Amino acid sequence: MYNLLLLLKITNYFMQTDFSLKDYNSFHFNVKTRYFETLKDPAYLKNAIINREFDTDNLFILGGGSNVFFRDNFHGLVLHPVGKEIEVIEENEAYIVLEVSAGYDWDEFVAWTVEKGYCGLENLSLIPGQVGAAPIQNIGAYGVEVKDYITVVKGIYLDTGADFEIPAEACRFDYRDSIFKHELRGKVFISHMQLRLNKQPDFNISYGQLEEQLKGTEITQQAIRDAVIEIREQKLPDPDVIGNAGSFFKNPIVQKAQYDFLKSQYPEIKAYPAGNDMMKISAAWMIDNARWKAYRVGDAGVHPKQALVLVNYGMAKPRDIMSLAEQIRKDILFKFGIELEMEVRLV
Ligand code: FAD
Ligand code: EPU
Repeated sequence: MYNLLLLLKITNYFMQTDFSLKDYNSFHFNVKTRYFETLKDPAYLKNAIINREFDTDNLFILGGGSNVFFRDNFHGLVLHPVGKEIEVIEENEAYIVLEVSAGYDWDEFVAWTVEKGYCGLENLSLIPGQVGAAPIQNIGAYGVEVKDYITVVKGIYLDTGADFEIPAEACRFDYRDSIFKHELRGKVFISHMQLRLNKQPDFNISYGQLEEQLKGTEITQQAIRDAVIEIREQKLPDPDVIGNAGSFFKNPIVQKAQYDFLKSQYPEIKAYPAGNDMMKISAAWMIDNARWKAYRVGDAGVHPKQALVLVNYGMAKPRDIMSLAEQIRKDILFKFGIELEMEVRLV
């Protein structure tokens, strides 16, 4: 399918064949890809696309692998961005605009911003993965979404090799959503992202658990980062120890009327206003209430401390986790009349 020499031209490095992705997906499924290569310079990819007919259907860009679910072996080329660069695009007394390369580890970048005193991203501490993946699902945690700080997403169209620069307003960012999950799904390589961060503190500690954690502490950027890390370490499994991809499902957003009906049946239900007469229901609460929390069959399970996180205790196969996910989905539909949507990207 692929011409080896042409592929070598993309990357200029040694390309691996029949390569195990066990260490490149946070569920640690032992799936293989036909070809695997790291990509340091986007120009190589661009030239390769321009110089030949490129079968982009069989190309997959893999960041840290913390939001993907490989159902099986992959029969094409996996490209894994590497390299970390930060460039200052604009700076004044109030703010700084930074351009960061895709291969930068997200949390390493957040730690750097905190060290420098560039404010905004501290609530997004310890989210696994790379910078290049952050805009795809508009990563969010503890009251902040990355869309609040992105100004531009840059990259290459995989069909033509043409460069693009998409301003944040055109990225259609929403809760765990963006244009990169719709029209541009699988069609682009994101090479850089620009973010505008404040030099003056603009802290957001409105998220209940965060506010609680920070009680009695002087509110600084570092204190927020530390508190977020502490909360996350308490309830989310470390993927290096127990395979998982964070929240397996999204929190469903329903009409207020549907929520009111559920609330009359389940007075304890957890939900948050989501604008336009809509409510975001806690999927973790529903899964927990339906008694799936800590459920385990073989090595596939529901995390004992966070019911929205499905885990691989070691030897679970993709079909084991998927079968568990399907059972949970059916049960939640039956009990609450709500269809859970997966957050993880199926490959
Ligand atoms: P991958 O899993 O490698 O890829 C995800 C998708 O992005 C794929 O479709 C891939 O093709 C695409 N992609 C990746 N890089 C590029 C690129 N450069 N160009 C084009 N497409 C690309 N998410 C949150 O939003 N909030 C959280 O609080 C959170 N907590 C988590 C906690 C744990 C323990 C885990 C395991 C995951 C968590 N996640 C969370 C999910 C995950 O960390 C994020 O979605 C993250 O952005 C994924 O980054 P990645 O580099 O691992 O992407
Ligand atoms: N809850 C339960 N049982 C549980 C866990 C939670 O009832 O087992 C209830 C609690 O009442 C809790 C509420 O659910 O107060 C919310 O829980 P949590 O704060 O853990 O948030 P979440 O809605 O489960 C979302 C994101 C996370 C993000 C956190 C913090 C989604 C799908 N998930 O989880 O993101 O870190 O909020 O902001 O929106 C991810 O996307 O992978 C991810 C981990």
